[in-house]
Amino acid sequence: MTHAIYPTLFSPMKIGRREMKNRIAQAPMSVCYADGNGVPTPAMAEHYGRRAQGGAGMVITENLAISVSGRQMPLQPMLKDDSHLDAFAHVAGEIRRHGALAIAQIVHAGRYAGPWTEYEKARRLAPSPVPFELLPGKTVTPAEITEDEIEQALSDFANTARLAEKAGFDGVELHGAQGFLVSSFFSPVMNRRKDGWGGSFENRTRFALEAVRRIRAAVGRDFIVGIQLMSDELRPGGWSLDEATSLIPRLEEAGIDFAVPVVSTFETLKTPENAGLFARPTFQHEEVRAIRRFATVPIFTNGGIRDPRVAEDLVARGDADGVALARPLFSDPDWPEKVREGRVCELRFCDCTQATCLRTQLTGSRCESWPKAATDAGYFGYQA
Ligand SMILES: Cc1cc2nc3c(=O)[nH]c(=O)nc-3n(C[C@H](O)[C@H](O)[C@H](O)COP(=O)(O)O)c2cc1C
Repeated sequence: MTHAIYPTLFSPMKIGRREMKNRIAQAPMSVCYADGNGVPTPAMAEHYGRRAQGGAGMVITENLAISVSGRQMPLQPMLKDDSHLDAFAHVAGEIRRHGALAIAQIVHAGRYAGPWTEYEKARRLAPSPVPFELLPGKTVTPAEITEDEIEQALSDFANTARLAEKAGFDGVELHGAQGFLVSSFFSPVMNRRKDGWGGSFENRTRFALEAVRRIRAAVGRDFIVGIQLMSDELRPGGWSLDEATSLIPRLEEAGIDFAVPVVSTFETLKTPENAGLFARPTFQHEEVRAIRRFATVPIFTNGGIRDPRVAEDLVARGDADGVALARPLFSDPDWPEKVREGRVCELRFCDCTQATCLRTQLTGSRCESWPKAATDAGYFGYQA
C-alpha cells in the first residue's frame, strides 16, 4: 500500500535483478567491529542486522579490504580468502533475515593504506608517487603501483566479490571515491602516469572500468554490482563533475547496477574552502542530480540527509532514486521504521560536534547519542 506522507520513500524499486523494499539504504560506515585479522565479530553481524531490522531496504557494509596491501584500519574487516567465510556469512545472513539487501563495500585503500606505522616500511600503492599530508605535520610519499600490482589488485577485487557472493551477500559496492585506489586513478593530481593507466580520460578511468568488468565476470548475473563514485574531487585540476557524468554510461556498459556519487577525498576535505562540508545539509546532492541525468541505473543521494521530508522530496522530484544514510542510521537504526510509522518526533540524532564515530574507529565506533545499553555494550545491536 502507498504510504500517505512518504509515498516515494516507501515504494520498492529494482536494483539489478533484485528488489529493494523501499528507497532507504544504510550508507557504508567503517565502524571497525572486526578483529585484528579482519574477521567479523558477532557484534559486527548484530550491528548490521540491527540496521536492517530498523527498516533500511539495503544495508551497505563498511569497506571490506580486498587484501593486506589494501587495508587501512587495524580492526577493518578483510575478505581475501574463504578461511573465515562463515563470519562474513553471519553478517550477510543477519541483514537478509530482516528483509534488506546485503551489500558488501569492497576497497583497496591505496595511498591511505595502513596501519600507518607498518606502511612506513611496506609499499603504500598509488598510481604515482605524489606526496601528501597523512597526519598533521606528517607527509608521506606512496609508491608507484607496478603493472603486476595493478593486475593483482584487479584480480583481488574480482576474488573478493566472488567470496561475498559465496558468503550470501546480494551484491558488492566497489569503492571508487574518497581517494582510495580506484579514485586515485581518476585524478590528474594523484595520477601522473605516462602509460596506459594515466593521462587521458580513457586511461585514468581504465582501472575502474576493468575492475567492474572483472567483478561482473566473477559473479552470477543476479548478483548486484554497484559503485561509490567520486563525483568531484573538489580541487583545482582534479577529477571533475563533467568527467564523472561522462563515466557513468561507461560504468553501466561495464556492468554496474547502481551508483552512489560522493565528493572529495580525505585530502581535499581538509582544505579551508571545504571546511565543515560534512555538517552541511544535503552537501553533495547537486552533483548527484547532475550525474543522474546521464544514468539509467538507480542513483542514491547521500550526505547530510536527516529530515524525512527532505529525503522524500529529493526522490519524489526525481533528483535521485534513493537516499543513503550513514550517521542518521548509526545513531538511530530505527529511522526508517519510525518515519514509516509517523514517529518522526522520536528520531534520535547526534549533533556530531565531537565526531565521536570517527574518533573511536581504532577501537570500534560509538555515538554520543546512543542509549545507555548500547554505550555499555560498545555497539548498538539487538539488545539496545
Ligand atoms: C565514522 C564514519 C565512517 C565512514 N566509513 C565509510 C566507509 O567505510 N566507506 C564509505 O564509502 N564511506 C564511509 N563514510 C562516509 C559515509 O558513508 C557518508 O558518505 C557520510 O557520512 C555522509 O553521509 P551522512 O551525512 O548520512 O552521514 C564514513 C563516515 C563516517 C562518519
